Amino acid sequence: MCDGCARCAPPPPPLCGGAWRGLSRVGLSRAQLGDGEGVGLTPKEYRIDFEFRDLGLVLKGSGKRVLQGVNGKIRNSRVLAVMGPSGAGKSTFISTIADKAPYGKRVGKLFINGAERSLSEFGAMVGFVPQEDIMLRSQTVEETLNHCAATRLPPSWSDAKKHAFVDSTLGMLGLRDIRHSIIGDETKRGISGGQRKRVNIGMELVADPTVLFLDEPTSGLDASSSMEVCAALRRIAMLGITVITVVHQPRSEIFNSFHDVLLLGRGGKTVYFGPTDGALPYFTNLGLRCPPMTNPPDFMMDVISGDFPAAFVAACPDNANPTFLFTRWAAHERTLALPPLAASASAQPVPQHELASFWRLTYLSLKRALLQHSRSKVALALDQALVRISSPTSVWCWCWLLVVGVGCWW
Ligand SMILES: Nc1ncnc2c1ncn2[C@@H]1O[C@H](COP(=O)(O)OP(=O)(O)O)[C@@H](O)[C@H]1O
Ligand SMILES: [Mg+2]
Repeated sequence: MCDGCARCAPPPPPLCGGAWRGLSRVGLSRAQLGDGEGVGLTPKEYRIDFEFRDLGLVLKGSGKRVLQGVNGKIRNSRVLAVMGPSGAGKSTFISTIADKAPYGKRVGKLFINGAERSLSEFGAMVGFVPQEDIMLRSQTVEETLNHCAATRLPPSWSDAKKHAFVDSTLGMLGLRDIRHSIIGDETKRGISGGQRKRVNIGMELVADPTVLFLDEPTSGLDASSSMEVCAALRRIAMLGITVITVVHQPRSEIFNSFHDVLLLGRGGKTVYFGPTDGALPYFTNLGLRCPPMTNPPDFMMDVISGDFPAAFVAACPDNANPTFLFTRWAAHERTLALPPLAASASAQPVPQHELASFWRLTYLSLKRALLQHSRSKVALALDQALVRISSPTSVWCWCWLLVVGVGCWW
């Protein structure tokens, strides 16, 4: 037992009973989330926890290890930030856990809720927010979320229940004021970049996930928009959802808003994995002091990339390389004496989520395509011109003009 790392810390308090009081502390009321009676976003009953040993990924073609020896736990109701230099294996880590890395072979053990199984068994309970959003620019924020809710929520839910779910998602993400604004693009101004990132998260959240993966949801955003996205992630975790996000060089306030952090170095090796507030003290214990007036996450990223403080290089030149960080973390892990993983005899069965039928999905997609088409004025004008030109009356007019033209010329 160590002094309070993520593995040994007691599990987060359950979100029942005083759950709504907790949610109101982060700025959410029942009205924003729904009525708490199964309408709108409500605290999760079934939750997902992960535990892994020596987790890694080997690329199928080259046999290269792009993630290796990662040990730890990821708990529900918490936000885990995955950080590291570019190419360290952050996206690989979330893809490996989410079972979305068909180009590689997963090695090591991954336990989900006490059983060795793949996250693909959990189907619709898994939300994955990609780095690049895919949304129709001519749709409004609410239409975008309504379409996702209609296609991904269980078909047995009534339309009213789905709308209430979308409404509370808009509230959760702070998007209610812009629900009728179009997404927009370079030609037609719509919502801001930060709002678009939150809509992108909303597209997954309206599918009612139990675990949410995000790949760099704050990249390209200014500090205040990034802060809004991260505050939304914390609120999402308060529902009992397990949130795992890749973040790129966050500001100190943003960094501190995550519960846990996994710092990866090149080759996908662990430099630190534990509570966020333990990361800087861990570096200090290694003799790596963050200079005053320096953003601690920037300092840690510099060190992981091989840019060690001058005082450290002068004092221990042999240790001023990333290998030192990997070996020290491995030694630290040995002191934690991780218990061996064993499948729990009472591993809960995975609840199944019903999906919309093929015909319903086709109908909803066609409906959306028609709506989008009708909004494209250029397309509509061209269509109308084509229809008029090719109509029987127009064909006779064209023939008549041709005959008159040829006659005049003759
Ligand atoms: N499908 C793939 N094929 C070949 N190499 C890959 C593939 N996916 C990731 N890699 C390699 O794995 C390493 C980690 O990639 P990635 O996880 O995307 O890094 P990060 O997200 O930290 O920037 C990189 O060297 C990258 O080139
Ligand atoms: Mg990446």
